[in-house]
Amino acid sequence: MINILFVCLGNICRSPIAEATFRELVKKRGLQDTISCDSAGTAGYHIGQLPDQRTMKNAEKHGLKLTHRGRKLSAADLDAFDHIVVMDEANFKDVNDFYYKTKHKTPSADKLFLLRDHDPETRGISEVPDPYYESEPFFEDVYQIVWRSNEALLDYLIEKHQIVKTEE
Ligand code: 4NP
Repeated sequence: MINILFVCLGNICRSPIAEATFRELVKKRGLQDTISCDSAGTAGYHIGQLPDQRTMKNAEKHGLKLTHRGRKLSAADLDAFDHIVVMDEANFKDVNDFYYKTKHKTPSADKLFLLRDHDPETRGISEVPDPYYESEPFFEDVYQIVWRSNEALLDYLIEKHQIVKTEE
């Protein structure tokens, strides 16, 4: 099993929708027995909470029901996941520092990277913007960014891990 962890700050807006869209894409390809995913936050503000109402509403518009409960990134996650995919530069710094403090080495570029490293339409922007203090249309922008980036991320992982779908 290849395990992917999506990480943002609060784990109620960006990473839960990144997790849900990625899982949907994995399912569409019939790879749910090979690739799994989860999400977490670098902060503990929303532990145990469902995603933000605006994230839930936008996800429902796209046929996705979010059930994830907010949780904080733990030291165990650093080993449990093959790839840690962050939303912005601040998340990157926080996870990178936490990894260094915990494991006394820096994570490889393959272990920790920005989701938009895989965005085919990045146009020079490296971050999935934080929608928390924004209005509802912003949540649709986030959805579109994570969906298309995840399509490319999944292609990359299939290639990298030489994943082939086994028919029953
Ligand atoms: P997220 O958004 O990192 O995409 O989940 C945020 C959620 C909560 C807060 C900030 C960003 N907050 O400050 O509580």
